[in-house]
Amino acid sequence: MTKTLKQLREDARGCQNCTLWANATQTVFGAGDPHARVMLVGEQPGDEEDKKGLPFVGPAGRLLDKALTEAGVDREHLYVTNAVKHFKWQLRGKRRLHKTPAQREIDACHQWLEGEIAAVKPHVIVCLGSTAAKAVIGKDFKVSISRGQFVESPLAPYVFATLHPSALLRVQEDEDRELAFKQLVNDLSLIKKALARD
Ligand code: URA
Repeated sequence: MTKTLKQLREDARGCQNCTLWANATQTVFGAGDPHARVMLVGEQPGDEEDKKGLPFVGPAGRLLDKALTEAGVDREHLYVTNAVKHFKWQLRGKRRLHKTPAQREIDACHQWLEGEIAAVKPHVIVCLGSTAAKAVIGKDFKVSISRGQFVESPLAPYVFATLHPSALLRVQEDEDRELAFKQLVNDLSLIKKALARD
């Protein structure tokens, strides 16, 4: 039987399916409209998300909000989650720096993402970055090659991947960052197109 988001959130709270729980403050489960027609999937919580227990509330989340606004998409109506629900980090000086999750950690967390998709039944799934695309679309998917294109998926009628906002934050040159931001906004505009096709 399909579990509700409430049940899944409760179950995921004590998840020890991989070792990431040991260094994280808490499980950061998805949040947003439980009946959303659009689900955004990121990689994993960052430092701020780990402390607050909510996805995309730190610097990447603020950039995502800006891109969504420019694309004419209201975050209020979305369900936002991550492929991996614990913050993986390494200490650099006093800062906890993000570490990319390993495939085994993505796999260990997959049951929660699967549960969220089954409970929300989104019409559109947007994968933000490579980890999310690997978890939702497949291990060989390359965001650099296939971003902004709908892919066939049993998980939802419309699925596509785009850039991760954190990747934009790491771009050094202003011009390159602005171009990447335009690409992100352009890709996110597909959400409205997919909803209009329904
Ligand atoms: N990056 C992610 O992938 N998810 C978050 O929640 C925050 C940053």
